[in-house]
Amino acid sequence: MKVLVTGGAGYIGSTTAKALEGAGHIPVILDSLLIGPRAFVRDRIFYEGDIEDRDLLRRVLSEHPEIECTIHMAARIVVPESVEQPYAYYRDNVAKSLELFDSLVDLGKPRVVFSSSASLYGTVEGFEVDESSPLDPQSPYARTKQVMEMVLSDMAEATDLRAIILRYFNPVGSDPDLESGIYAREPSHVLGQLVMAAQGQKKTFAITGSDHPTRDGTGIRDYIHVWDLAQAHVAAVEGFDRAIDEVGATSTVFNLGTGDGVTVRELVKTFEKVFGKEVPVTEAPPRPGDAVGAFANVDKARDVLGWTSSLDLEQAISSALDWAKKRKQILGYD
Ligand SMILES: NC(=O)c1ccc[n+]([C@@H]2O[C@H](COP(=O)([O-])OP(=O)(O)OC[C@H]3O[C@@H](n4cnc5c(N)ncnc54)[C@H](O)[C@@H]3O)[C@@H](O)[C@H]2O)c1
Repeated sequence: MKVLVTGGAGYIGSTTAKALEGAGHIPVILDSLLIGPRAFVRDRIFYEGDIEDRDLLRRVLSEHPEIECTIHMAARIVVPESVEQPYAYYRDNVAKSLELFDSLVDLGKPRVVFSSSASLYGTVEGFEVDESSPLDPQSPYARTKQVMEMVLSDMAEATDLRAIILRYFNPVGSDPDLESGIYAREPSHVLGQLVMAAQGQKKTFAITGSDHPTRDGTGIRDYIHVWDLAQAHVAAVEGFDRAIDEVGATSTVFNLGTGDGVTVRELVKTFEKVFGKEVPVTEAPPRPGDAVGAFANVDKARDVLGWTSSLDLEQAISSALDWAKKRKQILGYD
């Protein structure tokens, strides 16, 4: 089938496009290149434009009537930026997504897979969250995702739209052929910072926050290999109607993680094992908005989508290190 992938020039979108191709499907990319690099589009079917552009969407769908499902990944995603620029985040992630969903319903393309985030969850005892755990989004970015989950649920009740909402935990690594990966010049997330410290681009790796109520005081996360995450999208588009039937609702949410919680200190240890050398570490206070964290209960994705992760943390770290060495060839910068 053909699958429309908005944000398909981005990190997860380009990896998902590759996974769709591997499963025999054809991704059609819609991306404004606001952030994503042109190089990640490769030779795929590509429309450069904005998700809110109704005329463009009409053209895409008339040129590719075989599109059966839309994976909507296009968004602004930088948490601190969302604190400084809430208007841009609500406009792009909420208002523009509304236009997209309404157009899709109008054009008779009601299947939507939506990229949501584990950053919606509040902190719970034991740190394991399932899809019904309480939500407590801590940033404007996370709140845009919460709003869109509500929009999808309401639109699915009132229209033909049907939605599979995927709450990603912490994607890391690259695809198996190292064609795309993290492309920020200075990645802010923890594994990107570790890679920079390991390569000598930073003097030390700073553990931000060591007083959390976790087993060693540092934040806990569920690091999911981006290639596993990409495969979950293949499962979601292939099993879309069956999944919606099985849950007996017009929209439904799935956690996508490994099911394992890893603290920052544990991550550093595993990183050093894979890297083969110690990384200089310092401790610093938590950054504003840093959450204690959570890890996924992944039973629902396993039972309904038939998907589970298959790659472990060492493989994800090794993939991230390999990508860091390779990326200059693709992006033109280290
Ligand atoms: N990376 C993570 O850690 C993470 C975690 C949870 C959820 N997510 C979600 O997954 C999705 C993909 O994230 P990513 O890490 O690949 O981000 P990314 O920034 O690499 O990709 C997003 C893409 O969307 C495009 N885009 C943004 N606004 C657009 C618009 N209005 N019209 C068309 N294209 C537009 C950008 O150019 C970019 O290529 C996002 O929705 C994000 O919120 C990401």
